[in-house]
Amino acid sequence: VETALRRGSSSSHFLRRPFSSGSLPDRKVAILGAAGGIGQPLSLLLKLNPLVSSLSLYDIAGTPGVAADVSHINTRAEVAGYAGEDQLGKALEGSDVVIIPAGVPRKPGMTRDDLFNINAGIVKSLATAIAKYCPNALVNIISNPVNSTVPIAAEVFKKAGTYDEKKLFGVTTLDVLRAKTFYAAKAKVPVEEVNVPVVGGHAGITILPLFSQATPASNSLSHEDVKALTKRTQDGGTEVVEAKAGKGSATLSMAYAGAIFAEACLKGLNGVPDIIECSFVQSNITELPFFASKVRLGKNGVEEVLGLGPLSDFEKQGLESLKSELKSSIEKGIKFASEN
Ligand code: NAD
Ligand code: LMR
Repeated sequence: VETALRRGSSSSHFLRRPFSSGSLPDRKVAILGAAGGIGQPLSLLLKLNPLVSSLSLYDIAGTPGVAADVSHINTRAEVAGYAGEDQLGKALEGSDVVIIPAGVPRKPGMTRDDLFNINAGIVKSLATAIAKYCPNALVNIISNPVNSTVPIAAEVFKKAGTYDEKKLFGVTTLDVLRAKTFYAAKAKVPVEEVNVPVVGGHAGITILPLFSQATPASNSLSHEDVKALTKRTQDGGTEVVEAKAGKGSATLSMAYAGAIFAEACLKGLNGVPDIIECSFVQSNITELPFFASKVRLGKNGVEEVLGLGPLSDFEKQGLESLKSELKSSIEKGIKFASEN
């Protein structure tokens, strides 16, 4: 059934900054899982982004309503909603960036890996469609467990002959936002000025914030403070899962994080220089085949995977401790993709 809703507006008054759409290239962004807890606010935030000319909202159900709703906002992006697998090809065709928040979220007591059995299959089937309908798109994977779903997508693309390691990203931006927020409060510095790289992966101890590189630097933090900030960042997702008490995991902060990362990808595609974000990508900065670190984004996706920089002894220890868990999560994803 053709359920696509095409509505848009050319005049826009509610934008975050002055712009003339005439000077911006057309960019199509597709969100897969757009009717979900993350998908809906992410759709809203991308509708507000002047870099997006076409916003394609796909889910197994519910997207026509979400699309009709956000399409009434008077900003540049034309919105189309697609529901059901027979609409997936149309949703994806011509996409520059595809964001995937499709899949089940955690409940209290679960690890992200407990989501593997359901989400691995969802990501595999969506990646198969991406290889077919928009093999050149930058793919931003939010669905957990990210440490395994990114390797699954890579294997699917390899099998299809479309894999480009520069174009596949696990979204770890929420770890960075958390590290910045928690650091700013503890170090008593203005949060909007704070930068903290977060490396490794996206689950428990594989999340390694590098507070020794935080800016503005703080002399007032003790080793105990840094340990506590590290643990809170690693457990940030669980903090939200427990507070939501069975009603899911982070959605609003994740939508914000996903919108920031997608915007960075779009700016890179548009040739804006010096776009640097942390992301879980194919990497050779450690012996692990995928690793989150700072990456420079450009016209082809990843222009450069940046090194870790100087680490404190505590961070060096954290790096060594995370490797075996991250390695087995990556291998689990690769094995799933090769056997299914
Ligand atoms: P949700 O259940 O509210 O929404 C998920 C959506 O995915 C639903 O609308 C569902 O219909 C849709 N979906 C399921 N199968 C699909 C398919 N085959 N194709 C398209 N859509 C499909 O969940 P949520 O809270 O939005 O979380 C989604 C995922 O994001 C979870 O796996 C969660 O763990 C993960 N997540 C990741 C991060 C991160 O930092 N990377 C942060 C928060 C949540
Ligand atoms: C997060 O970090 O908030 C997400 O990965 C969701 C979760 O399960 O914690």
